[in-house]
Amino acid sequence: MVSFLIPYGTGEGQTEKVATHIGDAIAKRGHDVTAVDVNEMAPDVVVDDFEAVLVGASVHAGNHQTAVANFVRTNQDGLAVKPTAFFQVSLSSASEDGRAQAAEYVEKFVEDTGWHPDRIGLFGGALRYSKYGFLKRLFMKQIAKRTMSDLPDADTAGDVEFTDWHEVEAFAADVASFVEGRLGQTPPSKEGNGST
Ligand SMILES: Cc1cc2nc3c(=O)[nH]c(=O)nc-3n(C[C@H](O)[C@H](O)[C@H](O)COP(=O)(O)O)c2cc1C
Repeated sequence: MVSFLIPYGTGEGQTEKVATHIGDAIAKRGHDVTAVDVNEMAPDVVVDDFEAVLVGASVHAGNHQTAVANFVRTNQDGLAVKPTAFFQVSLSSASEDGRAQAAEYVEKFVEDTGWHPDRIGLFGGALRYSKYGFLKRLFMKQIAKRTMSDLPDADTAGDVEFTDWHEVEAFAADVASFVEGRLGQTPPSKEGNGST
């Protein structure tokens, strides 16, 4: 059994949903998973107590959550000696046109933090119009129109989810088998403990 920490940042909850999905998939392989919002992380949750770390963040106005970048910088040394992965949730990854932009966000994150994760996952996010205030809703409708020209017209009155859950599951399986290989472990069981 491997202990995984999944610290993430989230604005309207999509990255949290992805983190939980990844955590559940890894826990099903028999591993121990702690998924936690970096803004709510208890002081006794420390990177040193885990064997593998998957960091998640979403993109808002071209940037990831500051708390996630700070977490990575603060734990630079610990992350450097463990198998690690980074996953990003953004609108850019929801369309073919935005793929290059999504990759640029990650490049900038790597440059800014100096952290080089072993695996990277890029996932489409969601438009949660029901959670936005008036201005944000207006702003997001404009962004959606501009960045998602190759997508069918989204019903901008309601929430729309672009996350491909098969891609998320494939990423979770890839990261888990990479970590198991790196740590010389085989998956202990298919009936794991469930994530927190
Ligand atoms: C105010 C705002 C700004 C955003 N800016 C970007 C952006 O610059 N690039 C992008 O690809 N997606 C952008 N998005 C889309 C988010 O990345 C997407 O909605 C994602 O699902 C958010 O995940 P979260 O709920 O975990 O924060 C933005 C969303 C909001 C609400």
